[in-house]
Amino acid sequence: MKRRVGILISGRGSNMMALVAAARAPEFPAAIAVVISNRPAAPGLALARTAGIAALAIDHRQFASRETFDAAVEAELERRGVELVCHAGFMRIQSAAFAGRWLGRQLNIHPSLLPAFKGLAAPKQALDAGVRISGCTVHFVTPELDAGPIIAQAAVPVLPADTPETLAARILTAEHRLYPVALQLVATAKARLVAGKVVLDVGVDQGQRLLSPDADGAC
Ligand code: GRF
Repeated sequence: MKRRVGILISGRGSNMMALVAAARAPEFPAAIAVVISNRPAAPGLALARTAGIAALAIDHRQFASRETFDAAVEAELERRGVELVCHAGFMRIQSAAFAGRWLGRQLNIHPSLLPAFKGLAAPKQALDAGVRISGCTVHFVTPELDAGPIIAQAAVPVLPADTPETLAARILTAEHRLYPVALQLVATAKARLVAGKVVLDVGVDQGQRLLSPDADGAC
């Protein structure tokens, strides 16, 4: 049985589309049940619909509080039988109660090798810090921003001529490969949250593949 996944977005939705593409494979252990954007104008909504995925906006500005917005999102997720949630460029902080209820069932992708460079403009933060390697991280969502237990990471070089834009583009390519691999691990329970840490149930070869993720391969 494929696990039913809801994707939360706020913008262009390229990571969302990477998950949608991966989930088309018959052997992929998850199916995308719905895409929800807190911004009605998010370009990702149209992309999802074109790909045949149910997509809707729940505009956070229509809600008086974080809790009432989260409740509307949760009602939609439950209505569609969603078991796992993937944040893909979702720019809202959730209430601690929502994050707690979905702990171990919500993933996020961030464009840095966490715990370095949390928050906004992570590629620029990496350049400013002068690091030679950066990358991306998929982690479980906790109430603290970009601080949840790490599921998978992929590294990319930082090149001398890089600007925030060129580095972000190189990281984004790695994100598109990493996110499906991480979702696959969680959907098959090969990555599980146990006592605040991620237990990974993969062999040496599979561990190696996490360093060099490839969306088409099985983990
Ligand atoms: C990605 O870089 C992701 O890591 C970050 O926001 C960006 C979203 O891009 N959380 P997209 O909407 O998936 O194209």
